[in-house]
Amino acid sequence: MPLASLPKAELHLHIEGTLEPELAFELAARNGVDLPYADTEELRKAYLFEDLQSFLDLYYGLMAVLRTEDDFEQLADAYLARAAAQGVRHAEIFFDPQAHTARGVPIGTVVQGLDAALSKSVERHGVSTRLIMCFLRDQSAESAMQTLESAKPYLDRIVGVGLDSAEVGNPASKFREVYEAAGALGLRKVAHAGEEGDPSYIWEALDLLGVERVDHGLRCMEDPALVERLVRDRVPLTLCPLSNVRLRAVDVLEEHPLPRMMDAGLLCTVNSDDPAYFGGYAGDNFHAVREALAIEPERLRQLARNSFLASFLDDDEELRSR
Ligand code: ADE
Ligand code: ZN
Repeated sequence: MPLASLPKAELHLHIEGTLEPELAFELAARNGVDLPYADTEELRKAYLFEDLQSFLDLYYGLMAVLRTEDDFEQLADAYLARAAAQGVRHAEIFFDPQAHTARGVPIGTVVQGLDAALSKSVERHGVSTRLIMCFLRDQSAESAMQTLESAKPYLDRIVGVGLDSAEVGNPASKFREVYEAAGALGLRKVAHAGEEGDPSYIWEALDLLGVERVDHGLRCMEDPALVERLVRDRVPLTLCPLSNVRLRAVDVLEEHPLPRMMDAGLLCTVNSDDPAYFGGYAGDNFHAVREALAIEPERLRQLARNSFLASFLDDDEELRSR
């Protein structure tokens, strides 16, 4: 089956993680930003990560090149073109406002720039989109609350909130109030949990934040009661297989728990996370799991169906995009 033609939704994608080295250098030149790498080749050579934190250090550093609305528009448009070529029909896109406001780039620049690309995406690429604003969990709860406040003028363009960045030591409990406030504003809720953190991080995301989807959720397999809960409530998991290998959450793709997770009845989806850094976009992730884990065609189709079921599309939109 040509996996690029299998229609799919992408539900775990950080727009900043789609910054390809070529675009990073183009934006650096345009904005007069000095990069600590001689060229794209040297930058790519730095993509050897030990763990999540070693990736995050480089990822936040490279964001220095993103400064104007045009930069964010160009970044998002390039992602949408690539995603469309790999069969993505719908994308729910994360962005990290605090990683930009901390550098003096206002949240309005980020949202308006992204929206300039997203608002043309159906027409230009055949990809419907949603935006999810993530709080950085290694920043304070107060900073998250201020970020939510500063996003109020743009909430017509933001469907939900998420939680990302360094997981271990930054449990969901820290963000209980801000998720309550986001819910009161009508925002949907997701959170990264169980990528590096143990199952307690997933329990907290469910019980304290009330998330509707868990991003990664890989380590749920260590806790049978948690698996039972996730299966019972049909909580979707947005798995990112190539990311898990590059960030060493699993040793090799052949040992990825995806087949066992599907056997257990979990509602799994396959996504790319930060494709410019981890070796592939959505279709590449489908291809990689098919090859490494011998996932049968019917299961690949199930994963694609799951991605639409787990999306924030309403039923009509969902049927149209499949
Ligand atoms: N930010 C970007 N990618 C991430 C990941 N895989 N985990 C946590 N935070 C992230
Ligand atoms: Zn992620």
